[in-house]
Amino acid sequence: MYIAVMGYGTVGSGVVEVLDKNHESIVKRSMQTELELKYILDLRDFPGDPHEAQMIKDFNIILNDDDIKIVVETMGGLHPAYEFVSSLLKAGKSVVTSNKELVAAKGYDLLSIAKENNVNFLFEASVGGGVPIIRPITQCLAANEINEIAGILNGTTNFILTMMIEENMSFEDALKLAQDNGYAEKDPTADVEGFDACRKICILASLCFGKHVYPEQVETQGITKITLADVEYASSYSAVIKLLGISQRISDDKITAFVCPCVVKNFSQLANVSDVFNAILVRGNAIGDVVFYGKGAGKLPTASAVVADVIDCAKHTARRKFIGWGEGDKDYVADHRQLNCALYVRATVADRDAALSEIKESLGEVTVLTRNGAPEDEIAFVTGEQKESLLREKLGSLKNVKPCSVIRVADF
Ligand code: HSE
Repeated sequence: MYIAVMGYGTVGSGVVEVLDKNHESIVKRSMQTELELKYILDLRDFPGDPHEAQMIKDFNIILNDDDIKIVVETMGGLHPAYEFVSSLLKAGKSVVTSNKELVAAKGYDLLSIAKENNVNFLFEASVGGGVPIIRPITQCLAANEINEIAGILNGTTNFILTMMIEENMSFEDALKLAQDNGYAEKDPTADVEGFDACRKICILASLCFGKHVYPEQVETQGITKITLADVEYASSYSAVIKLLGISQRISDDKITAFVCPCVVKNFSQLANVSDVFNAILVRGNAIGDVVFYGKGAGKLPTASAVVADVIDCAKHTARRKFIGWGEGDKDYVADHRQLNCALYVRATVADRDAALSEIKESLGEVTVLTRNGAPEDEIAFVTGEQKESLLREKLGSLKNVKPCSVIRVADF
């Protein structure tokens, strides 16, 4: 059986490296006599690369070659990835992708095309890098109704926050280090503004709750406004700040889905997930909480998930694997602020005593936090649990308190 790889960047070259390195066992596990890489599509030249002879620049060579049964898409971006993948599926080829932007925006379309053409469209690497999560949700947790899913879904931001928490490193230095390590997206805005985590929670929510969730339906906030002051206050509260993607079932026709930084108590399994690691907590009605943990970004961890999908495609040439979800719906995602939570607040105040009494009168009892070297006019506290929209409304109407930072406190 012949395969092709489209996109020879970090992940694509990792896929080729894993295919080379573990060739014998991969062929054996694919239940094929051979699994041969025939083409690598990339517009760039790679002089001296051991696979130079397989490099091509014309997509139609792959599309029109009947020998090619499986194509790996590691180009990233929406276009031309969408046009290429849909043409390949229509031509009866299975496609494996690590491209979360593609799956989050076009997953329902592509899964439907794959179904019509009786081929596979697999995307294990699109969420959690090397962490197995798509297959466990579809297969191992199939007996459960899933009620909630919450995860540290972006390695770059988790790495940055870890450096800020543990090394007191500046945001810029930590981002530069993440880029040097090959974790960040081409444009790191997608990481630090939460868009990458947004795409991943869309995929997970679609898979867990059964209807396509689009990125536009997911309120998304990144980590660019998190300061070392917030990190210190969280630490005094025995907690850390993590960027989480969260989705909860409200009813069969309503869910929440959002991405935001959260204050996570140290006892939570998610609090101890550091560096580039990802962790995804799934709350099922039979299993309870289960957490999937591992390297969420990087060349070989991501390639590991892609190649596992290639093996699965090779094993399922005659019969399609069932994986998918239904069409999206514009009213499907409800405002998560209608649910209860506690909030961490850092604010400036002119008169501390007046501010504290106003806070208590309006919000009820709060836990006041401290940090070394805090300016005189700064206050930080954690509220009790109330409907989030109401809490924010009350905060906004305080006369003696100007909130600078308001962060949700996670409850797992
Ligand atoms: N930029 C992504 C991350 C890569 O940091 O998690 C893996 O999707």
